[in-house]
This record gives sequence, C-alpha cells and structure tokens, in this order.
Amino acid sequence: MGDDVAAGEHGLAIRAFVPALKPEQLGDAAFRSAHGVRYAYIAGEMANGIASAEIVEAMGHAGMLGFFGAAGLSPAQVEAAIVRIQKNLGQRPYGFNLIHSPNEPALEAELVELYLRYGVKLVCASAYLDLTLPVVRYRTAGIHRGPGGEIVAPNQLIAKVSRVEVARKFLSPAPERFLKQLMTSGHLTAEQASLAGQIPLAEDLTAEADSGGHTDNRPAITLIPTMLALRDEVQAQYDYARAPRIGAAGGIATPASAAAAFAMGAAYVLTGSINQSCVEAGISPVVKEMLAQSGQADVIMAPAADMFEMGVKVQVLKHGTLFAMRGRRLYDIYREYGSLEAIPANVRQGLERDFFRTTLEDAWVKTRSYFETRDRAQIEKAERDPKHKMALVFRSYLGQTSRWAIAGEESRKIDYQVWCGPAMGAFNEWVKGSFLEPARARAVVPVALNIMYGAAVLARIATLRAQDGSGTQTCRVPPVELNQLHERMN
Ligand SMILES: Cc1cc2nc3c(=O)[nH]c(=O)nc-3n(C[C@H](O)[C@H](O)[C@H](O)COP(=O)(O)O)c2cc1C
Repeated sequence: MGDDVAAGEHGLAIRAFVPALKPEQLGDAAFRSAHGVRYAYIAGEMANGIASAEIVEAMGHAGMLGFFGAAGLSPAQVEAAIVRIQKNLGQRPYGFNLIHSPNEPALEAELVELYLRYGVKLVCASAYLDLTLPVVRYRTAGIHRGPGGEIVAPNQLIAKVSRVEVARKFLSPAPERFLKQLMTSGHLTAEQASLAGQIPLAEDLTAEADSGGHTDNRPAITLIPTMLALRDEVQAQYDYARAPRIGAAGGIATPASAAAAFAMGAAYVLTGSINQSCVEAGISPVVKEMLAQSGQADVIMAPAADMFEMGVKVQVLKHGTLFAMRGRRLYDIYREYGSLEAIPANVRQGLERDFFRTTLEDAWVKTRSYFETRDRAQIEKAERDPKHKMALVFRSYLGQTSRWAIAGEESRKIDYQVWCGPAMGAFNEWVKGSFLEPARARAVVPVALNIMYGAAVLARIATLRAQDGSGTQTCRVPPVELNQLHERMN
C-alpha cells in the first residue's frame, strides 16, 4: 500500500489491512502434519506423572500434543500409562518423555525397550548433556526406505535442549560409533545404519529457555534465534530432505509470549509450568492453589534430585515452602563432608530432626530398599563409596519432597518441592479476573486454546501497528470460556 492511503469502500481511506489468521495457522505446517495435530502447541512432560494420562488424553482429543511425564516413575507405571493412553487415544497424537538418567543408565535403556515394544512413535528426549546409545536406538529402530525411495524413520524424536552444543548433536545424524554398536548388537543392518546417517537424530528441537524444572535459565528472546540459526547452519551442512524444526519452551504462558515465539520463527510452542496448576495435572489440589497464587518472582533455583552430585539445579516454587533452602543446605553438606559418618553431631541432629525425621542410619535402610528393586548397582556402589551413599540418602529426601507435594502430605507442606518457572506468575497475571483465575477452573485445553487464539489476535495487531505506526493499542486478550472461544474461532 505504500505511504499513500488507498481509497476503500465508500471512499474512506484504508489505513491498514490485516488478513485473517487462525490459531491453527500459527507455527509450522510441517510440524502439524508430521504429528497429526491441528495446533502447533505442546503440553510438555512433567515428571512423576504430573503430566498425567488425563493431560495427554485431553490434549490429543483437542488436536494438540501432550507428553506423559515418565521421569521418576518405574517402568511398570510407565507401561500402565502407555496401555491406558493407547487405548483411549487410538490414532490421536501423544508422546512420552525419555529423560537422560546418567545415574541410572539401565533405566534409560529399559524405557526405550518399553517404548519400542509398545510402538510409542513419539518421544521427547530431555536433560541430555551428551547422546546415549538408547536414544539413538529409539530413533533408528525400524528405519527403512519408503515406496518413493524416501527415508522413513517410524520413531520421531523431539529433543528438548537449552545448550547449543547439545542441540547440534541432536540436529546432526546419529554418531557413527553408536550406529556401529547397534550393528554389532544386531539392532541395525548396514543399510539401516547408512540411512540413519542421512537424517537428523531429532527432526524437532525445542529450545528450552528459563523454565520450571531443569533449566539453564536462558532468556527465550536470545535462545530461540540462536537455535534457529544453528538449525540453518546444520541444514546447510547436511542438506537433509526435510529441515529440522525449532520450537519454543520456557516462559510461554500468555498469548503475548506465544505470539512472540511464533514471530521469532518458532515452529511450535510448548508449555509446562502453567499446566501443573490445571485440574488434570497429577499433583495435589493444595499445590495447585499455591501455584495459582504465585507471582513471577516466587521461584528459585534448587538442587536437582536426579543429578544432585553434578550440582545440577531445578527451578522451583519458593512461595510457601522451605524446600529450596533445605535442598541447598544438603548440597553444601554433601560438598563439605566425605561420608554420612563424617557429618558433625550438631549438623546431623538438625538433618535428622527437620529433614529426615528419622536417624540417618534408618534413612539409608529406606533408601537401600528403594534401590533394591529399582537399580541394585546403586547399592553396590554406595557400599564401596561412602560419599555415594551420602548422595543417595540426600537424593532420597529430595525425591520424597516431590512425592509429598504430589500427595498433598499435610505434615510435609514446608518441604514441598514444586517445579515451576516464572511462566506461572505471568499466567496468573493474565487470567486474573477471568474464569481461569481459580485453580479448580483451569483445564489444559481451554488454557492452550486461549493462548493460541490470543496469539493469533496479537499477531494481527502487530501487523496493524506496523502499518499505522500506532503503539498504543491494548495488547491484552483476556481468556474466555471454551464455548465462546469456539464461536470466535469459527
Ligand atoms: C512440574 C514440572 C515437571 C517437569 N518435569 C519434566 C520432566 O520430567 N522432563 C522434562 O523434559 N521436562 C520437565 N519439565 C519441563 C517442562 O516439560 C517444560 O519444558 C517447561 O516447563 C517449559 O517451561 P515453562 O515451565 O516456563 O512453561 C517439567 C516442568 C514442570 C513445571
């Protein structure tokens, strides 16, 4: 249109033109078709089944993806979830999490075998610092050429990553050393290994910015463009038949944050924290209330149970719980002393009274029995190495603090470990005064659709602004009930 305003109908000047934009047009069409979804929106995995079968099913029925939170669960529990979700969703989309477990490599391998056995076709690989054989095995199993000669990998991997060096590994083909190992073990033929060498390990990669749970606290506004540029570089290097896609996670909580991610070029958005406060989440109502009342600054970094010894941290809620402080105290004690026995009496007393509510000896007996069925190698290592024994006991406390939060264990409220990022507070601000304000009214589908609808509206407003130069229009799209939303979307 240029600088001159054109004459519109009735001779009125047209100051701006904004074409229609539907929520289902946001993001990458290739992402939507690859995963059979209507919207480029994912409800991300949340450990211990917090991202429950109910979440996965609700999302799948609404044409979106939900990932079951398999981390922290036993293979038997994950298997039960697979059976249930496959029965209830049939051909609709769903995914499962595969979390890197450097402390329990056997578990990672077992989970992959389970996913392969049940034909789980979409897995999100997360928390990886480096690639492992099981993740390569999952992606490459059953790879073949289709009727048109194209490479078909039946298993799709979405990698969730916050570091560029790890992202590069997932965007590249599987490393040769793993492919050779899989050939030696009889899992791949030479032909299959050669095909695997021509596709990216992950065709979708979620750039995980500052988020709840494991996070490097990177700002989305810097991380997303970096990952997109990396994708372009890797694509130029390998010239894949289909370029990998980059999605955005971390801080997505409102129409504005989703619109910004799509505007930067995200193929899809993924939410985490906000879904934990929804009715379908596998965590106690008391925690959902705590979450619904938190602000953006009510979060803090604390030691992670799974990678405690490595100093890895997770982002948790600090509003209404002492967990972060206690977790940090345990980490300091772990760093300072060589064994449980070396901990001075006064420090030990504090731990036994406030943290464990039992003697450290008894805490070890319980920890030991937990690992008896889960991973016996841990017990053997602990018996050889007293520092490892201390780590296991401390990790057992950290692990239980999540379970108390899930169960809503009243006597342990101040110990609750609740993974959460600033997205929660941003969401609470957005929904204030709307039907989504009370935790009991929050459900993952209306939340997701309001975000996507609002993001489409905001994208149109941005086009408008670019044409008429005005920066003062309101940018708030308040949430509305599902029936009203469907009317607006049609
Ligand atoms: C309670 C909770 C548990 C989580 N557990 C996992 C997990 O087991 N595996 C994983 O890959 N990501 C996990 N995440 C991260 C989410 O899948 C998602 O990537 C992240 O929450 C997105 O950022 P946001 O919290 O800012 O929305 C968890 C997040 C939360 C809030």
